[in-house]
Amino acid sequence: MPQREHIELFDAMHSTRAMRYLKPDPIPDEVLWDILDAAIRGPSGGNAQGWGWVVVRDAEVKRQIAEWYREGWQASYGTRREQILSDPDGAGLGRANYLSAEHLAEHLEEAPVWVIPVLRNAATRPNPRAGSSIYGAVQNLALAARGYGIGATLTSLYAGHEDDTKRLLGIPEDALTMALIPLGYPARGQFSQPKRRPVEEVTHWERWGEQKGRG
Ligand SMILES: Cc1cc2nc3c(=O)[nH]c(=O)nc-3n(C[C@H](O)[C@H](O)[C@H](O)COP(=O)(O)O)c2cc1C
Repeated sequence: MPQREHIELFDAMHSTRAMRYLKPDPIPDEVLWDILDAAIRGPSGGNAQGWGWVVVRDAEVKRQIAEWYREGWQASYGTRREQILSDPDGAGLGRANYLSAEHLAEHLEEAPVWVIPVLRNAATRPNPRAGSSIYGAVQNLALAARGYGIGATLTSLYAGHEDDTKRLLGIPEDALTMALIPLGYPARGQFSQPKRRPVEEVTHWERWGEQKGRG
């Protein structure tokens, strides 16, 4: 049974980023149980926990959904490849990020495990904040994976085929898939600080627009 890494909490948060180059090496069930048991400690409105976590390893299911994902990738990013890669800023996405996202799109089914968080009633009772009842748990999942040295990425590009995905996985009508998270041991790239705008630039004190330096 692989051991958890001893990593300080803030170091974990500062080194959990999208990891898209993954080895096909299997992830044992005990590790997945531990990761999922940490994920479900996340909050939900009224502690309703209207979620389900679908663990997918089946090659045929992965092949089909990966095809749908690639359609989404192609429509959103693939058609703009040259434009994005010739932009020094990678059109905001960043060149390395684009290439890693392209790699994931081309190899999605090779990730040994996918986790698909599902939220009940999200399809029938539209609520712009529905996602807030699962994204804390999803981030817990990414952090728990990090604790085992396992990479994760929150993805959504399969969602043009939401109904097909639900049908394929037997997900109840009232529910929505909230993400597809490929998990795997990193094949390339390190866990490292995610690049973000500076905290001073995105923090507002008391009122929107009231900003200050960190001092
Ligand atoms: C709602 C949401 C949807 C995303 N969808 C995808 C996706 O379909 N494919 C992908 O490769 N990354 C996806 N990402 C990951 C983002 O691209 C990634 O978090 C962002 O580029 C920052 O990367 P970093 O955390 O490695 O710095 C998604 C992230 C979020 C929050």
